[in-house]
Formats: sequence, C-alpha cells, structure tokens
Amino acid sequence: MSSNNFPVRRMRRLRYNESLRSLVTEHQLHVSDLIYPVFVLPGKKQRESVSSMPGVERLSVDELIAEASEWYALGIRALAIFPVTPAEKKSLCASEAFNPQGLAQHAISELKNALPEMLVISDVALDPFTSHGQDGLVDDSGYVLNDETVEVLIKQAVSHAKAGADIVAPSDMMDGRIGAIREALDSEGFVNTCIMAYSAKYASSYYGPFRDAVGSAANIKGGNKKSYQMNPANSDEAIQEIRLDIDEGADMVMVKPGMPYLDIVRRCKDEFRVPTFAYQVSGEYAMHTAAFDQGWLDREAVILESLLAFKRAGADGILTYFAVQAAKLLSQK
Ligand code: PBG
Repeated sequence: MSSNNFPVRRMRRLRYNESLRSLVTEHQLHVSDLIYPVFVLPGKKQRESVSSMPGVERLSVDELIAEASEWYALGIRALAIFPVTPAEKKSLCASEAFNPQGLAQHAISELKNALPEMLVISDVALDPFTSHGQDGLVDDSGYVLNDETVEVLIKQAVSHAKAGADIVAPSDMMDGRIGAIREALDSEGFVNTCIMAYSAKYASSYYGPFRDAVGSAANIKGGNKKSYQMNPANSDEAIQEIRLDIDEGADMVMVKPGMPYLDIVRRCKDEFRVPTFAYQVSGEYAMHTAAFDQGWLDREAVILESLLAFKRAGADGILTYFAVQAAKLLSQK
C-alpha cells in the first residue's frame, strides 16, 4: 500500500488530534441557538412535574420568573410560553385565548417586566382554550373551521403583542393566518412584533407528552389533527406551506417535529435561506430521557449530538426541552 503511495487521500489525517478536529469543524452549537419551551400554571408558588417528561415542570409565573433569571445567566435568551388552562376556562369559542388578563398574557407581561432582554415567544393556537382540544373552532361535525378560527387567532396574537410578546408563533396550521395576523399587528401599531410561523407542522404522534403537559390530551380523546397539520408522508407540500408563510410575512419559519424531519429542515434552508427553526418536541424529549434514565444512552453526549444535528441540517435555532441542560453543558466546554 505505502510503496505506491496509496491511499493518496487520507481523510483520517484531519482527525488526528483534538486541535485539528476543531480547526476543521463545520458546525457549532451555541447557547444563543436555544429556545426553551415552558409550561405555565395559574396561581403562585406552584410547581408540578410532568410525568411523561421527567425533569420538566409546569411553573406558576412567580416561579417561572425566578428560574428564568437563572436561565438568562446561563445565556438563554428566548422562552416559548405555553399556558395550562383550567377546564372551567375552556369553551367552544376559546374566548380565554384573547383575554387581556389571561394566563399567557399575564406571563408575557410579567416576564418582560422582570427580564426585558429575554425574548418571549407566544404560542398562537386555540388548543389550550377549546373544550375539545382542537386548535380551532369546530362545526357540528367536529371539522375545524379555517376562516372563523383565523378571526380568533388575530385577536389572540394582538393580545400577546399588547402584553409585550417579542415574537408571536402561530402553531395552528390554518390557511392564511400569517397574512391576517401580520395585517392586524401592523394596524394596531405592532410593526416590530415578529412572526415565527410553525410552517411545516406535521400531524405527528410525537406530541403526546406535550398534550399531557398542557392538559389538552383528555379533551382531544381519540381525535386527531390531520385535517390541518401535515401528512408525515409529504415533503414537497412542506415547501409550499413555507413559501406561503414567507409570502404572507413570516419573519422566521419552523419545522416540527425535529429529528424525524431533518430532511425538511435541510430542504427549507436550501430553498429559502431564511431564519429556520426546528422544534425538538415533547416525544423526542421523552424518548431520549427514557433511554438516559435506563442508562442506555449517555445523557450529556447525546443531548449535544442531537442538537448539533439540527445545526448541520440547516437550522438557525432549536426549540428544545433540553435547553437548560444543554446551556450548562456548553458553558463547561
Ligand atoms: C399546539 C402545540 C402543540 C405543540 C406545540 N404547540 C401540540 C399539538 O399540536 O397538538 C407540541 C409541542 C411538543 O410536542 O413539544 N398547537
């Protein structure tokens, strides 16, 4: 082999030691890539664990603010807020979604008062507020109505902007909602409120633990969201969804779930070159954590590898329940 100078190309040469390896590293995970999704409870001094997401807690606003300053100190600069709505506030018309004194609105304004530099991303969708757990208003047959739902989403998004949200994030998958929300925000004077569109959101079975966490699982019962969320078999359709959201005024787009859909993240980035986010969802957190807790996977190494994979696929940032653990690991590196 060596007598005729073969192999000419020795790929292992650049892997010889750590300094060489880091010199030729293509992608890096940084704490500023991380967005931490949090579940908010009514009341004060409340903390509840989520059984299907070991290590994740629902927090009342006062507890959330205390924790958030620690996360801020670790370098986390963005939170995605998900309110846990008591059953008596849920209804067919989801009016709690745009209550100026609602839990989401309260959490947004308190967080912005306490930590003005922490970006607050609010979820725009009706599922925490509907008695049936669907993301929109339904007709007698249970079908989710598009345009009627968009009217409510507009009110919800404006109420979040009034409370101080930096970014509103419609996760409902109704058609035309991005344009309608942009127009409403602008006409109310919120020209600098950003829209992060859940553009390619799939009708995934990986959301189960989230529905436990926000308490919509029991409401949705055996139902599903296939008449508005995307078919996991489709990829070209994701490109159309993303194009429409960009044309309607989305500042940032998202692919969800994460790891099983990295091909969509890559296609999106290649096609549009816009700020692209991915959501490592509750089911991904749950399955990773289950394997860590069994001792089957190395927690620290796998958390960082799973998040780096999103960067390699083209994501600019990742919504992840591992955000705090990852921020700690990154600060030790
Ligand atoms: C609600 C919403 C969901 C998630 C984020 N926003 C659930 C759903 O669509 O049923 C899922 C997040 C996760 O699983 O971590 N519209």
